[in-house]
Order: sequence, then structure tokens, then C-alpha cells
Amino acid sequence: MKLYINKKRELGQRSPMIYGHFIEHFHRQIYGGVYDPGNPLSDEDGLRIDVLEAMRKIKVPILRWPGGCFVSSYHWKDGVGSERNPMFDKAWRVEESNEFGTDEYIKMCRKINCEPYICTNAGTGNAEEMSDWVEYCNLESEGRYAKWRIANGYPKPHKVKYWSIGNENYGFWEIGAKSPEEWGRLTTEAAKMMKHVDPCTELSAAALTDLEWNVNLLKNCGEFLDWISIHEYWDPIHETNDLADYDACMVYTNHIDESVRKVSGLLQAMGLDGKIKIAFDEWNLRQWYHPKVHTVEQGVTKEEYLSPRGRNDDNSSYTMADAVFTACFLNMCNRNCNLVGMAAFAPIVNTRGCIFTLKEGIVLRSTYHVFDLYVNYLGDVLLDSWAEECPVKMMESVSKEKAEVELVDVVVTAFRDKKGLAIAAVNKDGCEKQSLSLDFEADGPVEIHYISGDSTEAYNDVGREDVQIKHEALGEFRPGMQISLWPHSVNIIWIGVEQV
Ligand code: AHR
Repeated sequence: MKLYINKKRELGQRSPMIYGHFIEHFHRQIYGGVYDPGNPLSDEDGLRIDVLEAMRKIKVPILRWPGGCFVSSYHWKDGVGSERNPMFDKAWRVEESNEFGTDEYIKMCRKINCEPYICTNAGTGNAEEMSDWVEYCNLESEGRYAKWRIANGYPKPHKVKYWSIGNENYGFWEIGAKSPEEWGRLTTEAAKMMKHVDPCTELSAAALTDLEWNVNLLKNCGEFLDWISIHEYWDPIHETNDLADYDACMVYTNHIDESVRKVSGLLQAMGLDGKIKIAFDEWNLRQWYHPKVHTVEQGVTKEEYLSPRGRNDDNSSYTMADAVFTACFLNMCNRNCNLVGMAAFAPIVNTRGCIFTLKEGIVLRSTYHVFDLYVNYLGDVLLDSWAEECPVKMMESVSKEKAEVELVDVVVTAFRDKKGLAIAAVNKDGCEKQSLSLDFEADGPVEIHYISGDSTEAYNDVGREDVQIKHEALGEFRPGMQISLWPHSVNIIWIGVEQV
């Protein structure tokens, strides 16, 4: 494949928030995940030091919390102060101790130097409860909720800038689901009250790529919104845990930008494309496995609906399919950086996250290293580039239909603050190397930083590190030089990158 670049044409500068993450009160993401008081690996606040360190290394820029479906019957006031009353979490059908609440979450964000992003309860909650939460977090001392925060030991406001109204309230599975008309009205009143408390907040609201839902939302509430939230999981395994194979996951990449294109068209049609950005604030190749809760039919025994959640902890199911897909998604966010301003990998810790915890330590799954490559090696300024002779291969989708897949996915970047070029090149081919011909002018040393594993099924686990970032020096740049990309690999190619 031949790659051409127009170095003089910058397409945009991506926000670091496209490398964001999500953490929910679900299974072992919080309790027994990042929050593990009493574990010798935890700090004075009960937070896992090894997990925080891993989060810092991939520079988590924003962390969405507390849900997800959990939030749609969560009342934040139960989770602050000295009295923490347990509640029954009707979404996931477990007891929530409320030991970990707003203040613990903010403390965690400060420790990893990331922006908090709170998703509010638009299921059983209302505009007043949402705006009270903004009072608690952001007012200096006015009113009962700011005074409550101070009494709880936090004299300074938490300054939470990013807030989302609701989570998937369009879905029958969501507690307190709404009709499009109800949603338009609720979000408007909530946004109005939240902005009255703190006009410096940036607000998002749960949205779909569904026209009617979004038109109602944007017609009613567009003037208050800074973001529109969309979610997507491609491999529908939440009832079956029947994982699509490698090739089928590559076929999913053919549709990876569909939601963004649809929402982009709507925003433009409504004249909101300069004002509202997309927060892709829940995404992952695969859904989380939690049978008989996210549906009308509820499991009766815990064996039916609770114990199966432990199967998300099978590290062998996090392979190069997850890594290659994740890189293609991040390439899509980079390409659309003028519209996609935020994305949150769902989730970051345990379940189908990139960091797995056990009592004695952590495992960095294949997707973790993709974030490491994109955050620490790729540039932040997107350059115009195009390819010729991109190789394709027929692959079988999850429904056994043949589809043509382009095998190499590339974005080209420069750095706002230093010299050099960084090219993200993904080889989706599960068997063959692919060659990338750099048909443009540049100079300086060429290096490649990549993950590939020894097969499409490579994975990391305790005592097993199939997938690690490797580095190779490839000599001085020469126009037309060929770069060989390993099968099923995610590569960042540096050209003349200044070592600062
Ligand atoms: O599977 C997890 C759930 O997926 C999240 O709680 C929800 O937001 C989405 O439907």
C-alpha cells in the first residue's frame, strides 16, 4: 500500500479526551477493582496503587462515572457524608453499599490527574436532584449542598466541569426509560437548572443515532448542550458470551464510523455542528456479559444472572481482535477530531476493561497497550493523507456473510509541540504481513513501536505476556521506503520525532 501525505494541510487537532474511559458500579469495576480497602496494594483511601499507576501511564484524560445503567436509579445523596445507607441497585440487582461515592470518585480523579465526568440519574431522578449534585460539587459555600460538602471535609469546590444528563434513557432496559417527547422536556429542564447553578459546566445528554430521539432532544435542549452522548458496542454478547471470531471483528470495522456520520449529518442539518460535539462516552468492541438482567426476562437464581458475570474475567478472551478493533476506533476518532471531542472506553477496570485486577496485582490486557501507543506515541495534529493500492480481503461476518475488508487503516499526525511525524498503521490481516510504502518527503530516523502477539488469539494473563509493545529502529527515512507491518498488528511509526 502506498501512503501519501500533504504536510501543509492540517485536518484538525484531536482532543486528548478521545482517549477517555468509563467506570461503573458493576461487578468488580469499583469494589474489588480500583477500590479495594484493606488490600496491602491499596493506599490510605482504599484505592489500588497499581491500578492508579496504570491509569496514569495511559494519561486517562477524563473518567465517566457512576454509570451506565446503574445510575438510572442511583441517588447521589446516599453516597456522601458520614451516613452511607446501602441501597438495592435495581439495574444490576445487587446491594450497593454506597461506601464509594462522589467524594471518593473525585479523590481518585485528582490522584490520576483526570477530569471527572459525572453521569446523572435521569431515570428515577429529576432536574432538581441533578442540579443539587452540581451545587454539592461546584458551589463555593452557598446553600445546603455546598455546605454539606464542606462539612464532609471538602472546603474547596470539586469543580466538575463535565456532566451528562442520563444514560441510555431511550432503551427499554433502562430504569426510568423515556419517550422522545418526555426526553426533550426533561433534558431541557435539567440542563436549565444545572446551568443556573454553574454556567461553566459542559453538558451532554443521552442520545442515539435515531433521528426522532435526537431531533426531539436537540430541538428542545440543543441550546443548553455542549455535547451529545452516543454509545456503541459491536459484538452483541451480553446474553450469550458467544464472542465473534477475529475475522468477524474485522468486518465490524467496516461500520465503525457509521454512528458518527449519522449524528454529524443531523447536527449539520440542525445548524448545531459548530456548537455541539460528540461524546462517544461508552464504546467497546464487545458488550459486557451479564445474562438475564439487561432484558425483559430477569434471572431468578443467582446462578442465572449473577455468577455468569465472573466470566468477563477470563483474560484469554481479550485478544488481538480487541486490540486491532480498538486501534481502528481510535483512528476513526482522530479522523473525526473536529466533531468527536470525547470518547470513553467501557470500562477501564475489569469486566471488558483494559486493566484486570486480582488481589495480588494487575494484568494489562491487549487493549491497554493500544492506549499506551496512541496516548504516548501518536501526535495530536491530524495531517491530510491518502493511500493507493490498499489491500483487501474477503472475511466472514458474525452472520457468516462474506464482506470485503480493507486490511490497512492509517492516520498521519504531527506534534503541536515538537518536530516529527507519527503514523498509526493497523494491519487487520490475521495471517499476512502488509507493506506500507512511505511515498512522501520527510527526514530523520524512522522507528516503529508496535504490538502484534504471535497469533490473533494472543492475550495477557498472570505469568503470561503475549502482547507487549516492541520497538525497532528502521534507519534514516528515504522517500518510498517500505515498512513491513506484522499480521494483526497496531503500529506507530515515528519519522524524525524529536526526543524531548
Ligand atoms: O453492559 C453495560 C451497560 O451497557 C451499561 O451500563 C449501559 O450504559 C450500556 O447499555
